[in-house]
Amino acid sequence: MSILKNRKILLGVSGSIAAFKSAHIVREFIKRGAEVQVVITDAAKDFVTPLTLSTVSNRPVYNNFIEDDQKAYGVWNNHVEMGLWADLLIVAPASSNTLSKMVTGACDNLLSAVYMSAKCPVFVAPAMDLDMFKNGATTKNLEILSNRGVEIIDAEFGELASGLVGKGRMAEPEHIFVAVEKYCLKLSPLYGKQVLINAGPTHEHLDPVRYLGNNSSGRMGAALAKSAYTLGANVTLILGPTQADLDIAHIDTINVVSAAEMLEATVSKFSDAHLTICTAAVSDFRPLNVDTNKIKKVGKASKLTLELEETPDILASLGPLKREGQYLIGFALETQNGPSYAKAKLVSKSADAIVLNVLGKQGVGFNSSTNEVHVYFADGNEIFYPIQSKEILGGVLMSLFTKHFPLRNE
Ligand code: C5P
Repeated sequence: MSILKNRKILLGVSGSIAAFKSAHIVREFIKRGAEVQVVITDAAKDFVTPLTLSTVSNRPVYNNFIEDDQKAYGVWNNHVEMGLWADLLIVAPASSNTLSKMVTGACDNLLSAVYMSAKCPVFVAPAMDLDMFKNGATTKNLEILSNRGVEIIDAEFGELASGLVGKGRMAEPEHIFVAVEKYCLKLSPLYGKQVLINAGPTHEHLDPVRYLGNNSSGRMGAALAKSAYTLGANVTLILGPTQADLDIAHIDTINVVSAAEMLEATVSKFSDAHLTICTAAVSDFRPLNVDTNKIKKVGKASKLTLELEETPDILASLGPLKREGQYLIGFALETQNGPSYAKAKLVSKSADAIVLNVLGKQGVGFNSSTNEVHVYFADGNEIFYPIQSKEILGGVLMSLFTKHFPLRNE
């Protein structure tokens, strides 16, 4: 999942040989979860067909205020609506001609009119031959646009369509994605913040093939991790052994097995974390002795007694390490006296909030994809969230924590 997920991107394509790369740009933005609307200039149509771009964007491509096939119906492409619809306008490639229109406000085509109407952040990726790029007019135009707040994704050095070598190539699509993603991250409320989350079960081995464990899926922790990432945080997920498909390829994940490993990994990352959330269903007990060989059956009549010891309490171990500006959140799952036990944990585990899984309803807690929770803050505030998918609840809880604790970048 990318920071660009669900962003509405207007891609302006103007007349440069680099326009042939715009199909790749569209596809990659879509792969990152964005919606892309292409607006193409007449000159760009000589380099890439609207059909190609509408196929990859899954939308019609707009070119004129009134498209030929719409004339009979009096239908027109509303540049103001398009400008307002967009979260980001990216002009890539931006030809010398289009850049100069953006500077002067000339609106003789749809793309320029959309630019003039847009209220969102605007990016341009210039593309032209080296001498056009060096020309004082281009330098001045880029300077003016930059001073007006347009983000310039600088042209790159290399071989040009003319066969000459120099600066003027459109930035590689990968560099365009990085520039746009970085910009979005900076605007995000948790940009620059470290969020540490542990999730899933732990397995406590009694011998090389058997363990004590539980059915935790790690879904709640993964949903929180994804949401923190979308809000711009640097996220580390310490994940116990789960079979669930958590869609976390983009999250920095440390896989662990036992409570001891989870403790070590969580503590090692804790000092950098602004917000730590312990969602893991850590096994409370582990065998006192772990057999190096598989424990053999002796006979039907025999009994095997396992001696157990308590595992370290990870959440409780973090409390004493907490410094000013660090916030610690735990989860609780109780079969009785939930609210009073949860509130007691605020104190016993030095937590700033405890999220209580409300038990006793179908689809709530542990190994399900939905959850219903009550959040208790150490300052006495409480809030209840009725049953909903863990994916959605992850987002709701993360924005609650972002607002409740002084984490937010203003
Ligand atoms: O004490 P209890 O298990 O009910 O507390 C639950 C909270 O404590 C959860 O946040 C869980 O991740 C954490 N915990 C822990 N280490 C344990 C047991 C629970 O961090 N050994």
